[in-house]
Amino acid sequence: MDLSEIKGRIREKSNIVDVMAEYIRLQKVGKRYRAICPFHQDTKPSLYIDPEKEMFHCFGCGAGGDVFNFIMLIERLDFMGAMKLLAERAGITIGDIEHKKGDKDRLMEIVGLARDFYEANLRRVSQNHPAKRFLNERGISDRWLEFGIGYTGDKWGGLVEFLNDKGVSEEDGERAGIIYRDDSGVRDYLNKRLVFAISNLRGNAIALAGRGLAGEEPKYLNTPNTDIFHKGRVLYNLNRALPKIKETRRAIVVEGYMDVIGLALVGVKEAVAPMGTALTSEQAQLISRYADIVYLLFDGDDAGERATIRSLPALFAQDVEVFVVRPPDGLDPDELARRDGSEGINRALDNAYSGWDYMLKSGVEEYDINTPMGKSNLVEAFLEPLASIRDEVRRGVFIEELAKVVSIDRDLIKRGVENRIRGRKRATANKQVLSDIKTVKDKKPPLYEIELLNIILSDGRYMRRAVNEINLNGITDQRVRRIVEQASELSGRGINDTRKLMENLDSETTEVASKALFMEIVWDVETAFNDLMSKINSIAKRRELADKMYEIFGSDTS
Ligand code: UTP
Ligand code: MN
Repeated sequence: MDLSEIKGRIREKSNIVDVMAEYIRLQKVGKRYRAICPFHQDTKPSLYIDPEKEMFHCFGCGAGGDVFNFIMLIERLDFMGAMKLLAERAGITIGDIEHKKGDKDRLMEIVGLARDFYEANLRRVSQNHPAKRFLNERGISDRWLEFGIGYTGDKWGGLVEFLNDKGVSEEDGERAGIIYRDDSGVRDYLNKRLVFAISNLRGNAIALAGRGLAGEEPKYLNTPNTDIFHKGRVLYNLNRALPKIKETRRAIVVEGYMDVIGLALVGVKEAVAPMGTALTSEQAQLISRYADIVYLLFDGDDAGERATIRSLPALFAQDVEVFVVRPPDGLDPDELARRDGSEGINRALDNAYSGWDYMLKSGVEEYDINTPMGKSNLVEAFLEPLASIRDEVRRGVFIEELAKVVSIDRDLIKRGVENRIRGRKRATANKQVLSDIKTVKDKKPPLYEIELLNIILSDGRYMRRAVNEINLNGITDQRVRRIVEQASELSGRGINDTRKLMENLDSETTEVASKALFMEIVWDVETAFNDLMSKINSIAKRRELADKMYEIFGSDTS
């Protein structure tokens, strides 16, 4: 089976609407769908999907293409990576065309080896070893295997030795973050610690965290950020929690490893953790792909309170319902689960505050709203979170509530927020938020070439006519030219099917095709087509003439 055949089979099983709905919220408008674009700071839905053409396009940032392009952009994968992901999703095996193992795959494999090594070490130690004693105290004596837990072993250097035996180079081990080099040689990153494996959404180990068992500092030590692990982008346990989160559309955010595990032990399986810090905006975005309701359930102490407040704005910026849960008696969620079981957790969830009320309340406690200065400071502190709320109605309601609390004119706050929003738009216009996302914006084909594409991609009859009538030298954009060449190749085989045409394009070209498909041609197609043909063909003639002149007179003519 060749690549385009496999691509075709994967495409058949990957309905673009279904796939995209797994990442962003879609809204049906007529035959199309629209959504807030995840590739730039979008305030109103600028992204459209055409289910018939199986294409999407964002009018805001220019991102677009087919289902493969979408996966490449949102998962930051190359084309093969996107194929693999979609194939897996559709239950198709593409083992036979699998390319040489990527560098990142290799690093994940190495972290996976370390995880298995540590797991075997934990199996081996006796029941009264500190590692096992800790697990017994926490009520996981017989279930630690479910959670990817291990133990480093008592000997420092065990992992270096193990990797050596497995033929893993020190350099690769270092790049995976699990060993490091200092003046005296190569060492295990974690030493005498209980080990928690951190996985990506597919369940591949990408990092490890070790908990000290004798009160050492830091209590938890994470392996460092690497090519496969960026702490701020990962949520611990999301891979295991995902089925439950998708089912209930709710997620519970706790602080750390033992909280996640403590909740899972009593049957509350939708908990994830940012691992000891406030939620980043990337983590908030990640979670909002799958959940409509997010509970922040941080530790009952002051640090947990602060982390809660600092996590709220990131969640407001996503269109999710946010609730704050404060555990009773200053407990950790893990302690609460052990003390009161699932009823205790559910009771706490039932008594949750609305996230917005909670933030207002804490704002009022922090600033003295009986003074003009206090009011002003409180409003100032809320402008940014308010500006980040995309939904205008929600934003309006929150502004109203803030205005009531500080008893000032609502329009005053509204104007401040609107200024912020304008400022944000300017900032994003200057500096594309996700600069690593390449869009067609950079090097646009001329508008008339896009118009031509619109016509030939929409109607097989024009596709055939274009092939017969066009002089390719009149096309300036390489991608547009490739599309017309492809059309002519198909036409030569008697195929005038626009879908077939689009299926055969590479991803860069698909992006341009999608842009063309989503443009509205307002005038009469026949006239437009004829005008475009003569325009392009006369450009071709001029170019050919210029080339001839150049041949005859050399480079002196200009
Ligand atoms: P806690 O100190 O509250 O940990 O930190 P915990 O899970 O309640 O502690 P035990 O193990 O049950 O006694 C919460 C989270 O913060 C991160 C970890 O992700 C931890 O689970 N953390 C904490 C660190 O990364 N480093 C640290 O030194 C401490
Ligand atoms: Mn804790």
